[in-house]
Amino acid sequence: MIGVTILGATGSIGVSTLDVLARHPERYEVVALSARGSVDKLYQQCLAHRPRYAVMAEPDAAEQLRARLKNEAPEIKVLAGQAGLETVAALPETDTVMAAIVGAAGLLPTLAAVRAGKRVLLANKEALVMAGRLFMDEVRAHGAVLLPIDSEHNAVFQCLPRDFGSDLQRAGIRRIVLTASGGPFRATPLDQLPYVTPAQACAHPNWVMGRKISVDSATMMNKGLEVIEACWLFNTTPERIEVVLHPQSIVHSLVEYDDRSLLAELGSPDMRTPIAHALAWPERIASGAPALNLLDLHLDFERVDYTRFPCLPLAYQALARGGTASVTLNAANEIAVAAFLDGRLAFTGIAHVIERTLADRPVREPASLAVILEEDAAARAQALQHVQGHAARGAVRSSA
Ligand SMILES: NC(=O)c1ccc[n+]([C@@H]2O[C@H](COP(=O)([O-])OP(=O)(O)OC[C@H]3O[C@@H](n4cnc5c(N)ncnc54)[C@H](OP(=O)(O)O)[C@@H]3O)[C@@H](O)[C@H]2O)c1
Repeated sequence: MIGVTILGATGSIGVSTLDVLARHPERYEVVALSARGSVDKLYQQCLAHRPRYAVMAEPDAAEQLRARLKNEAPEIKVLAGQAGLETVAALPETDTVMAAIVGAAGLLPTLAAVRAGKRVLLANKEALVMAGRLFMDEVRAHGAVLLPIDSEHNAVFQCLPRDFGSDLQRAGIRRIVLTASGGPFRATPLDQLPYVTPAQACAHPNWVMGRKISVDSATMMNKGLEVIEACWLFNTTPERIEVVLHPQSIVHSLVEYDDRSLLAELGSPDMRTPIAHALAWPERIASGAPALNLLDLHLDFERVDYTRFPCLPLAYQALARGGTASVTLNAANEIAVAAFLDGRLAFTGIAHVIERTLADRPVREPASLAVILEEDAAARAQALQHVQGHAARGAVRSSA
């Protein structure tokens, strides 16, 4: 049996992962499940999947879960906080860790899994955006197996040769093409963008996802984070990565070889496909995703409009600046998206806050985790000031 820990079990990726695991009870055992504060949801998951451990990041929530499981499943050990997350990421009975916590909060538990040499299924792209070099060095140092869950990176991984060896040039690869749906506002008139609501931003046309990544998709910061992620995962530079709009989200990404062969991975927009791929790799297992009917397909590709999506060039800017600039970008984005979701910042204010925070913060060498975490905290404080500046100027409904 393969032991699986899911960090972020109550989220969109976590639920899809449990769905795939439940289809293969003879192959996988759920070792641990975690959440931040969703006690009810984790309680139900514990009863359905009977993990050995359950972790709530919030200590009060852990107390509540412990009390509720006491009679019905006393064998499940309930742990709390950051220490609990890091413990279950590194348990000897865990072979595979699904890293599906959203945002910077996922960095330390994901690193704990890497340092324990696990097979790490990386959904939490923010961890790699923040700690790229250090993260990849730890993967190599501890013999961890890192497999991408983002549908785009998983598609690229599937189109690479098996003996890729982290060298695109030697593998005869010219470029990677990441596809992007363009989100819910791909065709919204530009003058309406300042007034779009969180509910509209979270209503993605193709994918059902958590609220933060849904907003990232609407601003296309998600694609910016993915370009940075791809640079680290595939040991390449932004010049070799092209982003194209593909509104149907059927072609999940492509790899172009020197002979001009363009290999693509196609599938329904259903995260169970990359999850099943990474769980079983190099084997294949059923995912539960619906089959594609080629006769129904209509595939469009378009150029990205940077005026509509200013967050994407901001991510390129952070990549070009190097050092801790990606940490700054990620932190400012998390603060700005949270403010937008809370109604404290207009949709178009997200890019402004990130741009100003990037301009304010000095770039340092991300030589240690301490430097990365310091920059994360400092950039968050700075971004919060910019959010407050927007609110003070009454810009919440009118920042164009
Ligand atoms: N959803 C997708 O289709 C998709 C696709 C590609 C990549 N990803 C990436 O996968 C990650 C998860 O996305 P998602 O859409 O599944 O997010 P989500 O639905 O918001 O779920 C987030 C999970 O993380 C937990 N969590 C949140 N904050 C935490 C904290 N401070 N400490 C510990 N746990 C915390 C949540 O617990 P509670 O429920 O208790 O809050 C929940 O289990 C993100 O990095 C995203 O970019 C997602």
